[in-house]
Amino acid sequence: MGSQWGDEGKGKVTDILAEKADYVVRYQGGNNAGHTVVVGNETFKFHLLPSGVIHGKKCMIANGVVLDPRVLIEEIEALRERGIEADLVIDPLTNIILPYHNVLDGISESSMGKSMIGTTKKGIGPAYEDKYGRRAIRFIDLLSKEVFRKKLHENFELKKKTVENVYNQKFELDEHQIFEEYTALAEKLRKYLGDVSKLVSEAKDKKVIFEGAQGVFLDIAYGTYPFVTSSHPLSGAVFADVGIPPRKLEVVAIVKAYTTRVGKGPFLAELHGEEGDKIRETGNEYGTTTGRPRRCGWLDLVMLKYSHRLNGFSSLAITKLDVLSGLDKIKAATSYKMAGKEAEFPLTIEQLEKCEVIYKEFNGFTITGKEKKYSDLDGNAREYLEFIEKYLGVPISLISIGPKRSETIIRKKIGFGGF
Ligand code: GDP
Ligand code: IMO
Ligand code: MG
Repeated sequence: MGSQWGDEGKGKVTDILAEKADYVVRYQGGNNAGHTVVVGNETFKFHLLPSGVIHGKKCMIANGVVLDPRVLIEEIEALRERGIEADLVIDPLTNIILPYHNVLDGISESSMGKSMIGTTKKGIGPAYEDKYGRRAIRFIDLLSKEVFRKKLHENFELKKKTVENVYNQKFELDEHQIFEEYTALAEKLRKYLGDVSKLVSEAKDKKVIFEGAQGVFLDIAYGTYPFVTSSHPLSGAVFADVGIPPRKLEVVAIVKAYTTRVGKGPFLAELHGEEGDKIRETGNEYGTTTGRPRRCGWLDLVMLKYSHRLNGFSSLAITKLDVLSGLDKIKAATSYKMAGKEAEFPLTIEQLEKCEVIYKEFNGFTITGKEKKYSDLDGNAREYLEFIEKYLGVPISLISIGPKRSETIIRKKIGFGGF
């Protein structure tokens, strides 16, 4: 799971762990996510398919996901062209993104003017609104022409009224055209229908990875609201979003060695000058989904402490340590002060904006990307890592020092029975 604002390297770590897994399950979010996996000279970018797909593992999309059939089919076909056939199961209760969700996402953003969220405009918020408004079209509905026709009509009328009468804009979609296109898409996806909740519940002797999307500070409840996404990237959401009883999970927190954020909203440890630009260029910090430049800043341990409290990290996978290589000094936020008093990560953005950040400085280090074991790492890098470990009281299991599979140091076994 992502411990910060997304793009921590979940795709890469999932791919590494997937080698020894049986199932890889995406439990929330939609194609707002962009997960990159680099294998040799090839780069794969996934928005919906779980990152275990390259290892040929059984991949699942659970009911907590909002699924855009156009995007999923494109992803499956692009992968097929590269010689990989996705072994995929889609839960019948997965909520479907339809073109009116994209339209509403765009209109809602532009109508907010300066206070816009900076969404990915993939229709995520409006699709989850329909889920919680109890009018969503789910995968199982899409597979029945009668049910789909009826639900589409009801939704279409409502969206048309909203666009025309609330936003005073033209609604240019065509209900019949959507019906035809989406019944055809549904036929392409029909073979993937399967009860993910049941399959995972019964997978007693299997190793299952639940791949999160986004990150804790984009969580609909606990993130920097309202600058958040519309689902729960939290570890605890796995149970409701997959449909399995609570049981012990090993929670691997993916932690980027610094912090990034795409879109708007407060970011206290943000670097505005040359240092931020340098990290952005070295780390290639441009959005996988939207291409937007990511805002960059120092690691924020106050955020991570709160993240740990919410998610119960079993271990940390530190990524992109190599991006900090060559800097003279590295900083990490170690405490916040509000009105002169030490404060925990606050609950509202209004309080957050009043916080002052205290940093600790670390000596710079060099990473070559060729280090194979923990002891090969520069002593200053180890000092930085061990400070993080001690501060959070959570062991580091994996250190990523480049985008490739080979640029990974496993320090501690991950997963029950040891991955
Ligand atoms: P995700 O959304 O959490 O899966 O992360 P993204 O794929 O959006 O962003 C992470 C980016 O960093 C991708 O381009 C990865 O290929 C790349 N990456 C992952 N780990 C490392 C690393 O350790 N070092 C470097 N330099 N790049 C990495
Ligand atoms: P991965 O899985 C980074 C951000 C958007 C915006 C906010 C709301 O690749 O880490 P939305 O379209 O979800 O309604 O946008 O959330 N956002 C992400 N930022 N990584 C992601 O996914 C994100 N998914 C959404 O930029 O600020
Ligand atoms: Mg991403």
